[in-house]
Amino acid sequence: MQYDFDREINRKDTQSAKWGVIQDPGNPSRWHATDDYYGEDRVLPLWVADMDFPAPQPVVDALVRRAQHGIYGYTIRTAAHDRAVVDWMKRRHGWAIEPGWIVSTPGVVPAVNFLVRSFTQPGEKVLVQQPVYYPFFNAIENNGAEILSSSLILDRDRYEMDFDDFENKAADPATTLYILCSPHNPVGRVWTREELIRVGEICLKHRVLVVADEIHADLIYRGVTFTPFAAISEAMAHNTVVCTAPSKTFNLAGLHTSNIIIPNDRLRHRLQQTLNSCGMGKWASPFGVLACETAYREGEPWLEQVMAYIEGNLDYLQGFIDEHVPDIRVIRPEGTYLVWLDCRGLGLDKWALKHLMLGKARVFMDEGFIFGPEGDGFERINIACPRSILQDALARIRRAVTG
Ligand SMILES: Cc1ncc(COP(=O)(O)O)c(C=O)c1O
Repeated sequence: MQYDFDREINRKDTQSAKWGVIQDPGNPSRWHATDDYYGEDRVLPLWVADMDFPAPQPVVDALVRRAQHGIYGYTIRTAAHDRAVVDWMKRRHGWAIEPGWIVSTPGVVPAVNFLVRSFTQPGEKVLVQQPVYYPFFNAIENNGAEILSSSLILDRDRYEMDFDDFENKAADPATTLYILCSPHNPVGRVWTREELIRVGEICLKHRVLVVADEIHADLIYRGVTFTPFAAISEAMAHNTVVCTAPSKTFNLAGLHTSNIIIPNDRLRHRLQQTLNSCGMGKWASPFGVLACETAYREGEPWLEQVMAYIEGNLDYLQGFIDEHVPDIRVIRPEGTYLVWLDCRGLGLDKWALKHLMLGKARVFMDEGFIFGPEGDGFERINIACPRSILQDALARIRRAVTG
């Protein structure tokens, strides 16, 4: 089946977070509900990471059939579901996992919170690489640990890990956990096998447990290869908790289903204990597990098409910015539909930049500094939308910058 990603679909009355709430341009700590989805003056929301595209048709059909059944009682994850996850990891990523390694959580962010709680003591340090997905910060601090950043280095247009700094920080006896973001949100790097081996070996040497957040693993551009961290070696597998989900891949975030894959029995039981202590982990959401199984079984043609479309959006964005707004630099991602824009050439402080983009251009992106101070002067734009919306957003940015 051929999908039409050009079609703008009104998300009004769907309780969409992306479209339904907006930050106040004058006071970014305030948010308000909006009803303006179509007006000339509407704000274009290109912030939170969901797509403005419907999920694969087989998923929609399966959910409709399930909804029409009418009974939504307590639900279990079936062997067929787990088999679909196992097959997906093998087919798409060459990673052989066992069904018994899977632990379900209602999302990767909840999982990261549970993992910090399970594997750190109060006051211990958790290593991250800023700029990075900011809910990691809350997960660390809300569970009594401390954030320790080994910041990424921007070398021309490419972010690199700083291995010497990383090793110094991993060697701190208080550092017990590392959250790897692979592919990396927001800078779009798909870490190479060599890079992953280097950080992995440092973690093994200094007994730092790795949480590999691989939620974006399926969203990889042509010519780039994703390496599952735990597939590198037996030793890495036993020192790693891998967070996966069908939610970014197939636009299912609202269904709150993720699969945490843990080859090591001790680590898996520890997480399971934490989940039990919160009264969680026994039942599943009927729509979540069904969507996951169906997407992993039948969603591949959609995924191939959506990635080709998003890559077209990326080319359009790059061409437009290079030609019309040369003071902004596109950090071209290797994966994810999130693009990191270096706006430092505009010479604005972070609030002036926010005001320019949200107040004047009326384009709502995630401002770079929320990903850590290294992101100051950057914006993160979500390009998983019909091209017409992206074109409108870029034209607005051009007018706001040059007008
Ligand atoms: C790196 C990363 N992890 C986790 C999430 C969200 O996970 P979930 O919606 O499953 O809690 C996102 C969403 O953008 C993300 O970028």
